[in-house]
Amino acid sequence: MNTPARNWLITGISRGLGRALAEAALARGDTVIGTTRSGRADLPDSQRLHILALDVSDPEQIRPVLRQAEWLCPRLDVLVNNAGYGLLGAVEEVSTPETYEMFATNFFGAYHLIQEVLPRLRAQRSGHIVNISSIAALAPLAGSGLYAASKAALEGMSESLAAELAPLGVRVSIVEPGGLRTGFASAQSLHIAAHEIADYDQSSGQTVRHFSTVDGQQPGDPELAAQAILELVDAPQPPLRLLLGSDALRRARIKLAQLAGDIDRWERLTRSTDYAAATA
Ligand SMILES: NC(=O)c1ccc[n+]([C@@H]2O[C@H](COP(=O)([O-])OP(=O)(O)OC[C@H]3O[C@@H](n4cnc5c(N)ncnc54)[C@H](OP(=O)(O)O)[C@@H]3O)[C@@H](O)[C@H]2O)c1
Repeated sequence: MNTPARNWLITGISRGLGRALAEAALARGDTVIGTTRSGRADLPDSQRLHILALDVSDPEQIRPVLRQAEWLCPRLDVLVNNAGYGLLGAVEEVSTPETYEMFATNFFGAYHLIQEVLPRLRAQRSGHIVNISSIAALAPLAGSGLYAASKAALEGMSESLAAELAPLGVRVSIVEPGGLRTGFASAQSLHIAAHEIADYDQSSGQTVRHFSTVDGQQPGDPELAAQAILELVDAPQPPLRLLLGSDALRRARIKLAQLAGDIDRWERLTRSTDYAAATA
């Protein structure tokens, strides 16, 4: 299929999924403005690649970086909020500063970027915002509650945004990867709550131990995930949510069955709170 060349803005292209996506977009002739915290990325030189320094957790940096991005590429076709990291620990174990710091990247980073690009996308009456979430948002494990909360916050915002922007020609998609073989589970990226509580050893502790063995073993290939995101962006009617990986699919199906089961089993009690006149 012949697709028009697009201009992308992708956060976190230093490595992992962001880097694979930048490479895939460049390979098919698109232009990429990619951000990294260092302002450098180990990608082949290309006139269609622009790297800007950005720590998405610092709201002060967003506007100047986006001005520069607009100067480089006045039209923006796809914004990918990819920069993010994991934080493991039971809800009680994770400290408030650890939680706020992660939300500053995983949720507020995306939120500030979206706020800043929206006037441009509305004026264009086109564009696609792709928010990289996680299967954890839909199906959290013990020990991933606050990471899941940061991604669920991103998803809640994305769903409303999709409804608000659809009449204006701007699309929004949420991508929910399962385990991708990136640096995500490495010590470089994955944060573990500093405070441990022995009572959570069999719940959260198990998840932490599991994640200490998954680096390099995850089932998902980030290059194939990048191709899937290209296909999502090309689709005439892209989905609001796209799962990536058979592990994500398995967890999502279990979650949906649990949700349907709870709804059905408790339907009587659910209906019991309406005023009599409302149910008549
Ligand atoms: N891999 C998985 O299994 C998996 C599963 C579900 C969801 N995800 C999501 O996929 C996205 C990409 O992660 P990945 O798998 O590619 O992991 P990764 O290899 O660890 O890459 C993470 C990227 O995010 C950047 N980043 C982190 N904090 C940042 C900040 N404050 N400002 C700017 N950039 C920042 C990193 O930049 P630096 O090089 O500067 O650290 C890096 O480029 C994340 O949102 C993650 O939550 C991943």
